[in-house]
Parts: sequence; structure tokens; C-alpha cells
Amino acid sequence: MNIDFTNVPKHYAARTQEKMREVLMNPAGEGPAVHYYMLRGGVDQKNTTVWEPGTISGEYIKTYGHYHVGDLSENYFVAFGQGVALLQKLAEDESGQLIADQVEQFRAIVVKTGDSVFMPLKFGHLVANTGQTYLVTIDDSPVDFDDRDPSSFPGHADYELVKQMRGFAYYVVEGENGQPALKRNSLYKSIVEEDLGGLSVIE
Ligand SMILES: [Fe+2]
Repeated sequence: MNIDFTNVPKHYAARTQEKMREVLMNPAGEGPAVHYYMLRGGVDQKNTTVWEPGTISGEYIKTYGHYHVGDLSENYFVAFGQGVALLQKLAEDESGQLIADQVEQFRAIVVKTGDSVFMPLKFGHLVANTGQTYLVTIDDSPVDFDDRDPSSFPGHADYELVKQMRGFAYYVVEGENGQPALKRNSLYKSIVEEDLGGLSVIE
């Protein structure tokens, strides 16, 4: 075994309620002190993410969500639990700049233990835990341990557009029947194409 221990102290990171308020459907909602935990091993050891179960003002606990900078896609494997993955691709202006409030393609994918999800190039992504237990995923995203803020995971990701729009084009919420549903984020002006994975939309 040839395992390098150098970056071990940087492997663990967590997303707190305070940080997540930036992207919650209801930023003032009551939630757990920590929403999710990350063990960052990068391409070689893989990254493990563990979500707390539960809702904040009806919205399921989720990852912050980010876009990739550069030529990068990634694979998520669901090791345990159930969730909904959201993927969205923003429109671009003539100079290739992303337009924060215009979505070209949106997808919601219902996932459970044993499923894999591919996050293609240019698709921002997040995953919400819609089950009663922890949700656990393993992904193969590279990690930059030289990043000055170790809580930004991974270093190649852009969170600003998500922050600016206070989340993705839909929030994953608990429907009347206790099943996951979607609720539109009204800050987004348009969605050209969408595949909601069979989930209903709550007005
Ligand atoms: Fe990513």
C-alpha cells in the first residue's frame, strides 16, 4: 500500500446551516447545525458525502450545488439512501458568459441505493436527501487541497452563480402525500427544456 497521508487533515469538511441559508428556499427556516459532511479523497480515493435527513420549511436537505469550471464531468454513485439529483445547464451570451437566470436544460433524477448519476460537462448539480436516513454518495471529482478555503468542495467548482440565484431553478420539497415534489425558484426567468423525472410541481 502506498497511501500519502499528507492531506488527511484536509479531507473532512462540512456545510453548516449558516452557509446553506444562502441557497435555501426559506433562508430563515430552522435546520440542523450541519446539513452534510464530506470526506474528500479526490480522484484516487474518491469523495464521500453524507446528508442529514429532514426538511427546512418543507425543502429537503441538499448539497449547495455548483457548476464546474473547465472541462470536467463526474460520476456519483449512491451507496445508501434515496434522493433527487438536480442538473441544470445555463444559457450563454454571445461571448460565452453564463446567464445566471436563464436555464437551457433542467433535469431532475430520482435516485436510490445502487444508482449512478452522471453529471455531464456544463451541468450544475446538487443532490437532495428525500429519505428518512442518511444519504451517502461516492464521487470521483478531483480535489484541490491548495485551495485557500478548504470548505469549498471541490476547488474546481463555481458556487457564485448558485448563491446569486439562491439555489437552482427548482427546490426539492415534500409534497402533500409525503413524496418529493418540485417548487419553482421564481428568481429564474426561463427554462427552455426540462425533464422533471416524473416529479410533480407544487405551485
Ligand atoms: Fe461537481
